[in-house]
Amino acid sequence: MKTERIIINPNPIGGLTEEYLMEHLESAAEYIKNGEVVAFPTETVYGLGADAYNVEACKNIFKVKGRPSDNPLIVHIASREEVNLLTSLWTEKAEICANNFWPGPLTLILPKSDKVPREVSGGLETVAIRMPSHPVAVALIKKAGCPIAAPSANLSGKPSPTEGEHVWRDLAGRVPLIIDMGKCDIGLESTVLDLTGKIPIILRPGGITKEELEAVLGNVELDKAIGIVNTENGGTDTFIPKSPGMKYRHYAPEGQIFIFSRGKLEEEMVSQNIYGDVARRIAVLCTNETEKKMNEELKNRLDYLYVLGSGERPREVAANLFEALRLCDENKIDIIFAEGIDERGIGLAVMNRLKKAAGKNKA
Ligand code: TXA
Ligand code: MG
Repeated sequence: MKTERIIINPNPIGGLTEEYLMEHLESAAEYIKNGEVVAFPTETVYGLGADAYNVEACKNIFKVKGRPSDNPLIVHIASREEVNLLTSLWTEKAEICANNFWPGPLTLILPKSDKVPREVSGGLETVAIRMPSHPVAVALIKKAGCPIAAPSANLSGKPSPTEGEHVWRDLAGRVPLIIDMGKCDIGLESTVLDLTGKIPIILRPGGITKEELEAVLGNVELDKAIGIVNTENGGTDTFIPKSPGMKYRHYAPEGQIFIFSRGKLEEEMVSQNIYGDVARRIAVLCTNETEKKMNEELKNRLDYLYVLGSGERPREVAANLFEALRLCDENKIDIIFAEGIDERGIGLAVMNRLKKAAGKNKA
């Protein structure tokens, strides 16, 4: 399949107006209306979208990504009215979440309406709904005139794409159109919040933090699957994760990841015996602060070094993490030493992705 790439200038003369976007997204909207799959930017990561009400189009998303069909899709909307068609129960907590965090990186799990195809919900009785804030995502949904079901636009098992170029590398030849508007602001996926029980449960930490949610909702819990990483000898989790996506090995680069804490890089490298083994290609992903303190001998031993940003600004680290993991693959890295950061705020999502990437169990 020939893939077209539309590049949207974030700062066109006259500004990124609705008219400008509508004009440039005309063919993309046509593809969606005709039941095709299109890749587009959101403020979190790029999405691979199709008309959420078109069963065949949604099935095609799974095919293009190589994604297991029991892993449900998020339905993206551009206006509040659309939730009434998608869920059979819009709760008070949902209203609070929408008022505070939409449009933005928060996905709400609610009981699904009959209108949501089972192919979208992965056979579950619930539906995941998110109103993105990225101008291209919003304009595309409006122009197509339907909610857009979309997972992240990576091949299954790869880190989510945070640049149009990442999507191009994964999906060129597999989709008719990729809309490219450069780097995504947040760089990690949305927070997935289950609102079907009494207490809201975070199924996947992401762009909206637990602290931000608690400030408006009161008590919010973390799903037990978060933070638990399957180990090589079969894993420690005996329960079934509520979010089907949690059970798959995700965000995985080819190399093996070791997470080190600030100040402990050399110790970790010595314990992995990398100085005596020149056959393996070694990468370090770390904060500015760690890079500044690294001695020359250690730096010279590295095949690849990526500075994620300041440890004082975890949102910077979040925005660069997936690109860093992808570049490790491009540099054919065998072993990755990645610096862990504080698990507060966005740090919880960063560490969740890093731990998952480090998990060796290919479920
Ligand atoms: O930021 C994002 O959320 C991006 C952009 C494109 O919006 N999308 C994204 O989609 O990350 P995806 O498919 O890669 O991840 C969706 C997650 C999966 O872990 C899936 O299992 C979970 O949400 N999910 C979807 N529907 C669900 C449901 N009804 N119940 C529980 N979990 C659900
Ligand atoms: Mg994904």
